[in-house]
Amino acid sequence: MKNDLLEQWDRETFFHPSTHLAEFARGNIPHRVITGAEGCHIVDRNGNRLLDGFAGLYCVNIGYGRQEVAQAIAKQAKELAYYHSYVGHGTEASITLSKMILDRAPDHMSKVYYGLSGSDANETNIKLVWYYNNILGRPEKKKIISRWRGYHGSGLMTGSLTGLELFHKKFDLPLTQVIHTEAPYYFRRQDTSMSEAAFVAHCAAELEALIDREGADTIAAFIGEPVLGTGGIVPPPAGYWDAIQPILEKHDILLIADEVVTGFGRLGSMFGSQHYGLKPDLITIAKGLTSAYAPLSGSIVSKKMWAALEQGTDENGPIGHGWTYSAHPIGAAAGVANLKVLDDLKLIENAKSVGAYLNTQMHDAIGNHPNVGEIRGEGMLCAIEFVADRETRTLCDPSAKTGPSIAAALLDQGVIGRAMPQGDILGFAPPFCLTESEADEIVAKTKSAIEAVFN
Ligand SMILES: Cc1ncc(COP(=O)(O)O)c(C=O)c1O
Repeated sequence: MKNDLLEQWDRETFFHPSTHLAEFARGNIPHRVITGAEGCHIVDRNGNRLLDGFAGLYCVNIGYGRQEVAQAIAKQAKELAYYHSYVGHGTEASITLSKMILDRAPDHMSKVYYGLSGSDANETNIKLVWYYNNILGRPEKKKIISRWRGYHGSGLMTGSLTGLELFHKKFDLPLTQVIHTEAPYYFRRQDTSMSEAAFVAHCAAELEALIDREGADTIAAFIGEPVLGTGGIVPPPAGYWDAIQPILEKHDILLIADEVVTGFGRLGSMFGSQHYGLKPDLITIAKGLTSAYAPLSGSIVSKKMWAALEQGTDENGPIGHGWTYSAHPIGAAAGVANLKVLDDLKLIENAKSVGAYLNTQMHDAIGNHPNVGEIRGEGMLCAIEFVADRETRTLCDPSAKTGPSIAAALLDQGVIGRAMPQGDILGFAPPFCLTESEADEIVAKTKSAIEAVFN
């Protein structure tokens, strides 16, 4: 029987993240209860079936309803729902998963530390970076460089690393240890006459200048997503990482590759690090590690950093870092089953081919629309940036809320896309099991949503 009080309870008691709280309380934001899902579709309490073009929050990579993963979780819960992983304890699932991750990660990586969210994994990373420099006897080398429009979570440190206004405003962030540099966002370059190569050189020069101003001996690490995600789904201009990495090496600045979105196949490669030839010291993983069937994140630590961590514990005793739920057995069991499904169903190959199809079809369908400034993507990622004027790339009037209006018009037709924050950008990051006909549906309905809003 339907609980008729659910909406009232929702509005009265549930603090929803990333939500306009007052509008939700007033009833101006729909209350939506999701009750089921299969493949690329979710179903709500009113029986609406929606094509989820964003895989939840780009996390349900293998698609919904995979029984193998559900069964692995149930089996683990029945046999051993919990034991901690402190002081050398583990489970078959957590150890097996570590081996599976290292088998897939770049060769120079060494160990995996587990958390529960992308945010806590990045908090871990910053602590490890600071610990590392303290062990190496350089206590001044602590600042972290992040990029404007980067997204690294919403904790105190990770919210600071995030380079989006909404995550700082009124929260007293960013913390002083975090400094931001230019986003590799070619479409929004200040000087439109710049070629892509000139813009890459400009980003590299900006980074060098920042390091010079602050002093390399005060800067510990640089964090970046291989492809900017929440900041607008922006693949880097060609040669960007090749220009950035030598600068970091020259100044002995560690590289943290935040692969919460790109890890485990989103770009059509196992990791974005392999896709772009990165050699990170830490890799952040979450979302695709379990396809969100259970909360689990991780920090993959390089051999170079691991040596210092071991030295540190010889000098100082056990590492003072751990969560009750680190390597939670249920999350680990979900991770093992998820990575097997990815392999068995060749889902990364599908992400690559159907992702390319989605991007091509999107270009063909709306590439010439006067209000489409850019269509961009990589692997199973696709974004459309809207403009008031195509020639001048003039932004849409923010008060018109163009991005959210198009996402709403699309939802009316049964397709979920995400209005990305800070700009009028519609993003897609479907599950990897997307079919070409589902991609066609996303494209056709996006086209009609755009027409509905601009007409
Ligand atoms: C690149 C990246 N890093 C970190 C995070 C934070 O992860 P979580 O929301 O699990 O804390 C996200 C979330 O979207 C992300 O996209």
